[in-house]
Amino acid sequence: MSDRRAIGVFDSGLGGLTVVKELRRVLLNEDIVYFGDTGRVPYGTRSRDTIRKYAAQDERFLLTHNVKAIIAACGTVSSVASDLAKDLPVPYFEVVSHAAKSAVNATKNRKIGVIGTAATINSGQHEKHIKALMPEAEVTACSCSMFVPLVEEGWYSAEDIVVTETVRRYLEPIMKSGADTLILGCTHYPVLSGAIKKVLGNDVTLINAGVATAEAVKDYLDNQGLLNNGEKIGDTDFFVSDKPDSFRRIASVLLDSDIDDGKVEQVNISSL
Ligand code: DGL
Repeated sequence: MSDRRAIGVFDSGLGGLTVVKELRRVLLNEDIVYFGDTGRVPYGTRSRDTIRKYAAQDERFLLTHNVKAIIAACGTVSSVASDLAKDLPVPYFEVVSHAAKSAVNATKNRKIGVIGTAATINSGQHEKHIKALMPEAEVTACSCSMFVPLVEEGWYSAEDIVVTETVRRYLEPIMKSGADTLILGCTHYPVLSGAIKKVLGNDVTLINAGVATAEAVKDYLDNQGLLNNGEKIGDTDFFVSDKPDSFRRIASVLLDSDIDDGKVEQVNISSL
């Protein structure tokens, strides 16, 4: 059996591309439709009701592309709006539970740090998933509200002192906690991995939710006979709600591949 429909992926902006990168690594033949809500980013400082409204619109948009699965490649949406998925006509994947599982597998001293947006940290979802798997785990969670704007602005180099000093200030509680494992609970954050490693050192394992999520999607599609078994390498089409040019420029860097002019289309997401 072969299912040629695309996989739908969405985020508030560029961050979900860290998940797309992992999907493209393990699912070579799959087409992907990506929506980045660049006109309304960030989500993580908004109210729960607003985030849920935006997530529902993003999902409706992807369904207009006849996708076979939807991935909320956003820690914030995964934390506060995953229950909406019960109404979706296609399988849904979030990023929080996969990150928690990877962290539990990685930690040796059972001290796990979690960083994310304010909405994600306030939801307590990572801690809930960690404690369900490892009740004795000590979890230190903190929100890093300036990380998303930094990445959206293209400021993520570990050589940039503004970036490393911002990272250092936000990660102080994590350093104090002695955590040996840190969940990057927002999909924008893997872009800052170089700067985070520079601040924390190499003894702290960083968990990129996209890695485990991509494996879970692959296993599911395989088990359900939903993989595209065609010969052709999959394509990714990008849609954004604002500023397609700056999205194209930074996305090419994040994905390590040039995105053609026609590949990023602007859509009116509020009308959905
Ligand atoms: N990538 C989103 C996340 O994983 C960023 C949220 C935001 O826009 O604040 O949480």
